[in-house]
Amino acid sequence: MKINKLLLLALLLLPIALMFLINESVSLESKDIKDEVVNVYTSRHYDADELLYDEFTKETGIKVNIISGKGSALIERLKAEGINSPGDILFTVDAGNLSNFQKQGFLQPIQSEKIKKIVPKELRGENDEWVAVAKRARVIFFNPELVSEAEIKDINYEDLKNDIWNDRIVIRSSSNMYNQSLVASLISNLGIDETEKWAKKLVENFSRKPQGNDRSQIMAVANKEASIAIANTYYIGIMLSGKGGEEQLEAAKKVKIAFPNQKNRGTHINISGGGILKHAPNKENAEKFLEFLLSEKAQSHIVNNTFEYPVLGTVKPHPIINNFGEFKMDKTSVADFGKFNPDAVKLMDRVNWQ
Ligand SMILES: [Fe+2]
Repeated sequence: MKINKLLLLALLLLPIALMFLINESVSLESKDIKDEVVNVYTSRHYDADELLYDEFTKETGIKVNIISGKGSALIERLKAEGINSPGDILFTVDAGNLSNFQKQGFLQPIQSEKIKKIVPKELRGENDEWVAVAKRARVIFFNPELVSEAEIKDINYEDLKNDIWNDRIVIRSSSNMYNQSLVASLISNLGIDETEKWAKKLVENFSRKPQGNDRSQIMAVANKEASIAIANTYYIGIMLSGKGGEEQLEAAKKVKIAFPNQKNRGTHINISGGGILKHAPNKENAEKFLEFLLSEKAQSHIVNNTFEYPVLGTVKPHPIINNFGEFKMDKTSVADFGKFNPDAVKLMDRVNWQ
């Protein structure tokens, strides 16, 4: 009898309990509509990106929250947050870094056909877990007072193993992802053995122990401490624009660029790119955000501020970069840089690339 009474009471209270639950979900939903957001995890730290995010908010009403940090810090954070992570977007540089997040299961395949139509297959993750937003070329900077026309004409990355370059090359350390990706691209094209032979000779041709960033390699060539440097194209844009200061501007005027492998597969291309995080609570907004980064307006903004190359064909690079002319870009899939990264790191270690 007592049990029956309790049961009756529970049955009477059930609709009231359900009403509370429904009310709760209604209020959550309407709150979401009020505050549309996208949470962007990024290791890019360009001031110009802020303006880009503001423009996105102006166009869509979606607020952009930035969580910035080094790649390793973002990975630790994502691990700690697990399925409760508020992260929607990962936005970073280098296909090697994007692959690293992908391999650890932090990304999900991008579904947007609009995005896949703009970004060619070779500039995406294996299963579209990430896509390029901008491109950069890793080229040879040379001092024309130290390098002859004959030496630099039709140069290939492969040629840097030759004895004529002995004691004449500067490049940053093997811990740098840009270099790891360059070596991975050679592994993809030449195989491990050939690449290792090449890297061994290349290291022997270094004029100093690797030190400093890409810009310091270009400075060393300008100051005649070395004949050639390997560095990313956008740095010369930053330097020539005066954004890096007077000393860098003067140095930049003293160097020239050679685009390697023009008679064969083309110059090594890497990317800035983004992906949608696995547990994105605002997945639709994340998709909109990536679509926005690939729009004409955003692409122009990116190339004019970071001196990278656009992904969208209708946009031209910054005039300073455009001045270096068109060149053949390597179509090797940038996903290979992630795939062969462990091999590249081990190989660089074996040849004592510090
Ligand atoms: Fe950089």
